Amino acid sequence: MSSNKVLDEQRQGEATMLDTIEKGAKKLYLESYGCQMNFSDSEIVASILSERGYATTRNAEEADLVLLNTCSIRDNAEQKVRNRLTHFNAAKRKKPDLMIGVLGCMAERLKSKLLEEEKLVDIVVGPDAYRDLPALIEEVSDGRKAVNVLLSREETYADISPVRLNSNGVTAFISIMRGCDNMCSFCVVPFTRGRERSRDPESIVHEARYLHQEGYREVTLLGQNVDSYRWNVSKKGDVIDPDKEVVNFAGLLEKVAQVAPDLRVRFSTSHPKDMTDEVLQTMARYENICKYIHLPVQSGNTDVLKRMNRGYSREWYLQRIDAIRRYMPDCAISTDVIAGFCGETDDEHADTLSLMEEVQYEFAYMFKYSERPKTLAERKYQDDVAEELKQRRLSEIIELQNKSSLRRNKAALGKTFEVLVEGLSKKSDEKLYGRNSQNAVMVFDRGDIEIGSYVMVKAVDCTSATLIGEVISKK
Ligand code: 5AD
Ligand code: SF4
Repeated sequence: MSSNKVLDEQRQGEATMLDTIEKGAKKLYLESYGCQMNFSDSEIVASILSERGYATTRNAEEADLVLLNTCSIRDNAEQKVRNRLTHFNAAKRKKPDLMIGVLGCMAERLKSKLLEEEKLVDIVVGPDAYRDLPALIEEVSDGRKAVNVLLSREETYADISPVRLNSNGVTAFISIMRGCDNMCSFCVVPFTRGRERSRDPESIVHEARYLHQEGYREVTLLGQNVDSYRWNVSKKGDVIDPDKEVVNFAGLLEKVAQVAPDLRVRFSTSHPKDMTDEVLQTMARYENICKYIHLPVQSGNTDVLKRMNRGYSREWYLQRIDAIRRYMPDCAISTDVIAGFCGETDDEHADTLSLMEEVQYEFAYMFKYSERPKTLAERKYQDDVAEELKQRRLSEIIELQNKSSLRRNKAALGKTFEVLVEGLSKKSDEKLYGRNSQNAVMVFDRGDIEIGSYVMVKAVDCTSATLIGEVISKK
């Protein structure tokens, strides 16, 4: 399996089983699928339910309530969840009191269909309705089925302190905004997660400060399109409350970077059409803002980008890459690529390969186009690239990326990086792993190094996915 595939599956589908928080309470078993935002939402759900006496468990068999936080981005993500629901329904036959609920994007997309037609679940809750979960659970206890898929223009869960699940105690996500207004033609997200809205910057800084006090050393600011974060200013640009500060993404990044010099700041996801020089300048100014940008390109061909409604051309994208390199020559860049979008010709696909060759990404998430119901592409274009051809194009993209990742890692050999230690290596208890500012995973001897500390590590060997290092000094 290629490294991309492993990471892709980690990100897009692998279930996460969560730790027990306290004993003796009702038991919640929660699995999360899809993007980091879903994992972050699960921590909000666990927080809401912990106030109602639910403790999370890793063991589904002892659960009173099973919740799946789901993803609709590609058809195979939904299929995985359906298989899990069938599995839990078999368990329910032996334990009729077991409640099963679907949260997240699939809940929003399929709404009561999951209850009525498919009879797979008791509870369906969309991404903006998690505060209603306790009431919905009550309804199910009274023998009814319960649905709330209302989307909101305001909900950001700003006041809820997430229960950190499956945490390494070192790195944490902070959700800074919700929804997406971009309407990329392939994407179901604007339909499942609703309109874009930003969270109060004070609550974000407060959460970062709290995490730092608790010993965390890295926060990742999350949003579908972080560059359109805005506070106290309307979409048209009018100031809402003249007595209060206006905050854009660069401003927010700076505020979080100022929380503590030993708190690293990352963010995801940037949009090429909105990423400003001001953000790049802020990144360059603060050592603790990691030098890593995830900048999804989707395609290297301007006509395809137009059909995708991405709002930029190949030239614009490459000019953004130049800007990143100008301000931060050491910045790593990763991307998302879709193979076989509607009407994609051989030449258009070749443009994607040539762009990747030109940029030399450190890392990429690569997908075959999967038509999603209701999206602009579904209504406007034919999904006309044959499956076999999509697969072949995807394989070419992956092969090229693996070469590029390996080349990038080889170029790092002999260099020394500051690494934040995140935990024990999966392969050996005698090794630790962490990441450098550029988000490359480094593995090195454990010695007496503490998890959560910073160490200087020299890269001495590599695969396309990992740098093997020698510890030079502790910090
Ligand atoms: N088919 C394939 N990939 C998709 N993505 C979003 N929608 C689709 C789709 N319908 C990819 C994009 C996006 C990433 C999160 O998922 O590359 O950036
Ligand atoms: Fe989907 Fe585009 Fe919004 Fe990303 S920016 S969530 S790809 S619509």
